[in-house]
Amino acid sequence: MFPTIRPRRLRRTASLRRLVREAHVEPSDFILPLFFSEALDEARPVATMPGVSQLPVRAAAEQAKLARDLGLGGVILFGLPKVKDAHGEAACDPNGPVPRAVAAMKDAAPELCVITDTCVDEYTDHGHCGILKKDSRGEMVVDNDATLDVLARSALVQAKAGADVVAPSDMMDGRVGAIRTALDQNGLEDIAILSYAVKYASSFYGPVRDAADCAPKFGDRSGYQMDPANAREALRELELDEREGADMVMVKPALPYLDIVAKVREKTNLPVGAYNVSGEYAMIKAAAQAGMLDEKRATLEALLSIRRAGADFILTYHAIDAARWLGA
Ligand code: PBG
Repeated sequence: MFPTIRPRRLRRTASLRRLVREAHVEPSDFILPLFFSEALDEARPVATMPGVSQLPVRAAAEQAKLARDLGLGGVILFGLPKVKDAHGEAACDPNGPVPRAVAAMKDAAPELCVITDTCVDEYTDHGHCGILKKDSRGEMVVDNDATLDVLARSALVQAKAGADVVAPSDMMDGRVGAIRTALDQNGLEDIAILSYAVKYASSFYGPVRDAADCAPKFGDRSGYQMDPANAREALRELELDEREGADMVMVKPALPYLDIVAKVREKTNLPVGAYNVSGEYAMIKAAAQAGMLDEKRATLEALLSIRRAGADFILTYHAIDAARWLGA
């Protein structure tokens, strides 16, 4: 005990601190989310997310080279179609914004890891993550089993366009298995599935609903996304997705759910990702713009905390800035 034992000895110099540092964050840990719009000719800044824009598909090649040159771990693509319908059929259009952007990115930077978000909420006119039906009480709900087919077909189109990984974010039961079966039956057994295994019904998605134009037109997503109060349920979702064949799993959001990231890390041997979502990004940006926080230090500390909790990689809108701050 004190005075013999003094933890401060190892904090005395920068070289000692570096030697005993437990967690690290590098550009290759980051996956950059990108929003490609079929309707745009020029980038359109997203008001709620300073520094983030909806992009025209023709910007894809340049974004791919930027991500590669910064040494990012990869990109994840979201699409904004021109036309939406009740079933989200545009998510299965081989000429839609995501398949076209994937092809252009793989062409421009073949070694870049390209992931596609698989969900229909950007493609449905009602903004929900699936096909609707009336339940036994006469209320409109998302029809789990009917949605599996459109998800599987969308993943197939994304994989055929060249995606290395498809990432279902819809939270339907059984979708990992349905997507795995569809890929395997079509000779795409090498394409990996990154499951949004643990996705909470979170207020921190607010800003992205501008970027991806995917706010539900009625109700909310609490009938399919998880209750923020639940931790054991996260492990149940994890176990099911592992059994259905997920290659990697994700927890979303990240910062308000670091306890969940740590629990998932302990329970699985699969790679674990965490999604540092739009609201987490917007909070740091807004505080920095108001002069309340040092943006660089706060961002790198937040990203480090997600790694320390146990995430192998982080989906983050800070990816480009953070990679540059880290010397990329
Ligand atoms: C839904 C989806 C959402 C995000 C990614 N995929 C929104 C939602 O679930 O409502 C949010 C990402 C973020 O907030 O950064 N397909």
